[in-house]
Amino acid sequence: MILLDGKATAETILQEIKQEVDSFRQQGLREPGLAVIMAGNNPASASYVRNKIRSCEKVGFHSQHIHVGEDITQEAILDLVHDLNQDDRIDGFIVQLPLPNQINVDQVIAAIDPSKDVDGFHPMNMGNVSLGREAFISATPNGILELIKRYEIETSGKHVVVVGRSNIVGRPMSILLSRSGYPGNATVTLTHSRTQDLKAITLQADILIAAVGRPNMITADMVKPGAVIIDVGINRVEDSSRKRGYRLVGDVDFEGISHKASYATPVPGGVGPMTVTSLMMNTLKSYKKRVQ
Ligand code: GUN
Repeated sequence: MILLDGKATAETILQEIKQEVDSFRQQGLREPGLAVIMAGNNPASASYVRNKIRSCEKVGFHSQHIHVGEDITQEAILDLVHDLNQDDRIDGFIVQLPLPNQINVDQVIAAIDPSKDVDGFHPMNMGNVSLGREAFISATPNGILELIKRYEIETSGKHVVVVGRSNIVGRPMSILLSRSGYPGNATVTLTHSRTQDLKAITLQADILIAAVGRPNMITADMVKPGAVIIDVGINRVEDSSRKRGYRLVGDVDFEGISHKASYATPVPGGVGPMTVTSLMMNTLKSYKKRVQ
């Protein structure tokens, strides 16, 4: 089995981005700018946001972390979005999810200028992705596509089974791999919590993408020999032997499938680092459009 090493691939891409940023700076241009709005203190969100800001520093982006309280109002968060829409130093920004319960998430996302929506969550970007047009592809699906490309995994005519229909990962992934071109041209089955006899379907997968958020739900008996396994899950499970008191596991029983798969992503170090990197790629793309 070949490891789809997201960590190493992400590092390579960050180096490539840094070189581009350096060359822009040598031409006397400003550096690309990314802002992150985070509300409250969700520990997983805080960790993701830290990684995003750290990646900005690595590649030489200007970054802005706007951290507001759990009790922020809808009006206040919309004001922040409007300010960032107008801010010439900012090429892209994201609102870290989940947001507190009093916030209407759809309204917040709809307020983001689609040309700065580097998360690709705005209906305009989601729609253009579905139509096969130029758009920001959201970070996790984009990271997976990049991993598939860099490892030159064939997708044309393959049966891709996606487990999980979230707006952030499962559904866009199913759409992207069914589009024409590469990576794409696949036959895609999108499965979810109401799917009957999941195993009968996953056993047909040439490429299996698990994005459900349930530790080790995909076991070796559900995997076809030679399949490519992409594990999007990042689940915290209690582990008293770790300093933090938990460890991260995916949706796939990695040890079990490692004897059957042709390629597989580890957790951590697979899809996760690629997600952050694709946010940087999207921000660079937005920057290039803005300065040119
Ligand atoms: N929460 C979990 N993943 C993401 C992501 O990719 N973007 C944002 N904004 N929030 C998230």
